[in-house]
Amino acid sequence: MATETLERPASAPATDGDSVLQLKNVTKVFGGGIVRRKLTIAVDNVSMSIPRENPGITAIAGESGSGKTTLARLMLGIIPATEGSILFSGRDISTLGRREKLEFRREVQPIMQDPFEVYNPFYKVDHVLMAPVNNFGLARNRREARDLVVESLETVGLRHQETLGRFPHQLSGGQRQRIMVARALLLKPRIIVADEPVSMVDASLRATILGSIDLLNKELGIAVIYITHDLTTAFQISDNIMVMYRGSVVETGRVEDVIQKPQHPYTQLLVESIPRPDPKERWGRDMASQETGSDASDVGCRFAPRCPYVMSDCTVDMPPLYRMGDTQAAQCYLHRDESLGTVASVSDVFKSGG
Ligand SMILES: Nc1ncnc2c1ncn2[C@@H]1O[C@H](COP(=O)(O)OP(=O)(O)O)[C@@H](O)[C@H]1O
Ligand SMILES: [Mg+2]
Repeated sequence: MATETLERPASAPATDGDSVLQLKNVTKVFGGGIVRRKLTIAVDNVSMSIPRENPGITAIAGESGSGKTTLARLMLGIIPATEGSILFSGRDISTLGRREKLEFRREVQPIMQDPFEVYNPFYKVDHVLMAPVNNFGLARNRREARDLVVESLETVGLRHQETLGRFPHQLSGGQRQRIMVARALLLKPRIIVADEPVSMVDASLRATILGSIDLLNKELGIAVIYITHDLTTAFQISDNIMVMYRGSVVETGRVEDVIQKPQHPYTQLLVESIPRPDPKERWGRDMASQETGSDASDVGCRFAPRCPYVMSDCTVDMPPLYRMGDTQAAQCYLHRDESLGTVASVSDVFKSGG
């Protein structure tokens, strides 16, 4: 029995037609060339899927260097996976033809950490919003295109008089961020991958932007992947959460379960670092400062060197994700005996009876 549970799941389940995006045992390794000799396993065997129906908001949380942005770039097709596959509507994104690739680019939209980076500083805001309208043929004429752009700006609380005709550097960080949301809105994608969309803005703006993202999900049914190092905002807006540590998903489930009764020692550490007295205080604010050190192990559980409960097995094999109930799973041997079996994929947690 023990040996059975010691095995890592060999492979994720076959594609089910209900997923719009699916990651199957995705690993991303950087380096190994002449310049960067050292290998970095940025994403380590992650499987998950985003359902077509009622996709909700999924948070990906973890400290700096845990692989969140790499996972986002993989999902967006910006970088290829080293191992495993990424399927869009059942098709491997590395083998899409021209038309399918265009469709994929429209359907999966980024909202990145620093919107300034994404904009060409020589293009006015108009171009940032008009280009997708033109590229994807969203309007029949210029008039219709402008109406679409103005409408999308208004939806995110921006006045077109104050944004159109300007260059990115003439706008505040918050305005630029909201232009990214407006751009996403314009394209009405199936999936939005938002990488730390509020990490650079103040509290009031944070609420506005999170509000717009929530709206995209609730009103338009767009799946949202919300990436953050901050558990407070994850708790506020997401339905499900994946907690990452050194490229692995160490815990996943319904956000209430994971944050209110964390099962992995790493998640417990994160939740404990939340300042208590005022629950509105930012939780997990220490996360970013705990940049993953060189103490981390390359065999067994990546968290073992920092874990207060470390056992001998932990340094030998990576534990599987043990199911803790209908809506939670933790990648930790502490739960080997009480668990209800293992799950191969993050999304399997929500398929009860497994
Ligand atoms: N292009 C790259 N080349 C080499 N290493 C990279 C590259 N991008 C990310 N990494 C490394 O991969 C790990 C995960 O990084 P990243 O995905 O940016 O984490 P996060 O977004 O959670 O802070 C880090 O160790 C980082 O240094
Ligand atoms: Mg990042």
